[in-house]
This record gives sequence, C-alpha cells and structure tokens, in this order.
Amino acid sequence: MKEWYKEMFEGNLVKYWLSLSDSRKEVTNRQVSFLRDFLEKGLVLDLCCGPGRISIPLSASSMSIVGLDLSNYLLLIALKRANQANKDLYWVRGDMRHLPFRSEIFDSAMNIFTSFGYFSEEENETVLKEITRVLKREGMFILDIANPGWLIRNFRERDWTEEEKYISLEQRSVDWKSKRWKSKWIVINKQTREIDEINFNHRLYDLQELRELHSRRGLETTQIYGSFGKEDFDEARSRRIIILSRKK
Ligand SMILES: C[S@@+](CC[C@H](N)C(=O)[O-])C[C@H]1O[C@@H](n2cnc3c(N)ncnc32)[C@H](O)[C@@H]1O
Repeated sequence: MKEWYKEMFEGNLVKYWLSLSDSRKEVTNRQVSFLRDFLEKGLVLDLCCGPGRISIPLSASSMSIVGLDLSNYLLLIALKRANQANKDLYWVRGDMRHLPFRSEIFDSAMNIFTSFGYFSEEENETVLKEITRVLKREGMFILDIANPGWLIRNFRERDWTEEEKYISLEQRSVDWKSKRWKSKWIVINKQTREIDEINFNHRLYDLQELRELHSRRGLETTQIYGSFGKEDFDEARSRRIIILSRKK
C-alpha cells in the first residue's frame, strides 16, 4: 500500500488539499512576513515546499530559494505559479529523508505547516540529521508544527466542513502509546459526487521532545514562538510550535 503522504499529496485528494491551502491567504501572508524577518539571507531551503505557497512570495522579496518536495503534482503547480519575477527560485523533487544536496550549502532551511513527523521516530530524526548536514555552520532552521498541548485540550472527535467544491468529514483519534495523531478524511466532490477516503497519521512532538531532538542533531534552539504573529509560546494556548535554531 502507498504511504499516506504520497496518497494525500499526489493521489485523488491532492486537489482537495490544494483548495484548502489556497484558501488560507491571510495565514500565508503572516507566515511569509514572519519568515522574511527571521530567515538568514543567502540560500534558503524550503523543505516540503508543496505548491510554492511560501517559496514564491519569499523569492519575490529577493531571497534565493530552493523548494524541495516529493510530489510531482505539487511541484508542477509551483513551477506554473512562479513567474518571471521569481529569478532566484529552483524546484527539486526529492525525499526529505535523503536530501539530494551536498553538505553545508544552505544559509537557512524551513519546514512549515506540519510537514514533519510523517515517518517512524528514527526516520523523523533522520530528517533533522539531513537538515543539519546541508546547513552551513551557524545556519538557521525554522520548524513549524501543530502544538499537541493545544490539540489535546481542544480535541474534537469529528468535524464536517463544507467548502465551495467539497464536503468533508474528518474523524480523529490519538494513539497515546505511540504519540501518533490519526485522522480519517472522507471527502465528497460536490460536482462529480466522487467520494474519497484517506487515513493519515503523524507523530506528535511536544516542545521538550523537539528541543531534545534538535539538540541531539546539532541544532541549538534560539527562539520559540506560538504563532506567526510572534506571540510567545504557551503550552496550553498556542496552536503552533515554531522553533528557531542554529547549527552548532
Ligand atoms: C502539509 S504540506 C505543506 C506544504 C508547504 N510547506 C506549505 O506550507 O504549504 C506537506 C508537504 O510535504 C510533502 N512531502 C510529504 N512527504 C514528503 C517527503 N518524504 N519528502 C519531501 N516532501 C514530502 C508533501 O508533498 C506536501 O507538499
């Protein structure tokens, strides 16, 4: 069976995911402005760049960006969306566990919108190891993932959502032993009446675990925020954990 992240970002449901991500313009603007303030100038790696939601506007503000993603479908969309104004922007197909770059070439790297935690614990750690490898010494890494402290306190077993083209049902559970968040999405296309289903799961990491993981992999935590509006992190109230670190 295909892994869920291939199904989700390359299979039938990719159009649904894209429509959700495209509808979040305000969120994107806030993220881009935050990243512009913090990323080290020079060559920046957007690890898991998807359709270029972040890479394209950042490159328009004269940053040199390499966007890497596993999904051909999303990379082709990124390529179409990037225009002549984006001169210093490159797309690479690859797997975050084995980065196709030589060591110590990036000034900064980012992994945004819960694109971390998809694999086994060992493989998730390999991702951080790879990031450290390709960063220059003192290079900066920004990781943004959902805060389990908030997710647990605001847990809802299921939600129906209706958008312009889709109706979806998300059913959630948490496996406390493995600390994995599990979701089943059932998505109905309102025009074609097609029904798709996908099960995905990812490892939840709290701040303490993330700090330890970073430290083990040679990344020193420098700042922690709870939102792209630069609010301080609060375990109970923050929806996100945004952790900024530097290669030691
Ligand atoms: C939640 S999306 C986030 C996309 C983008 N960072 C954004 O903020 O819009 C996760 C992305 O990770 C990519 N992805 C999944 N598994 C991957 C892997 N093994 N290596 C590289 N990219 C992967 C997906 O194709 C998808 O574009």
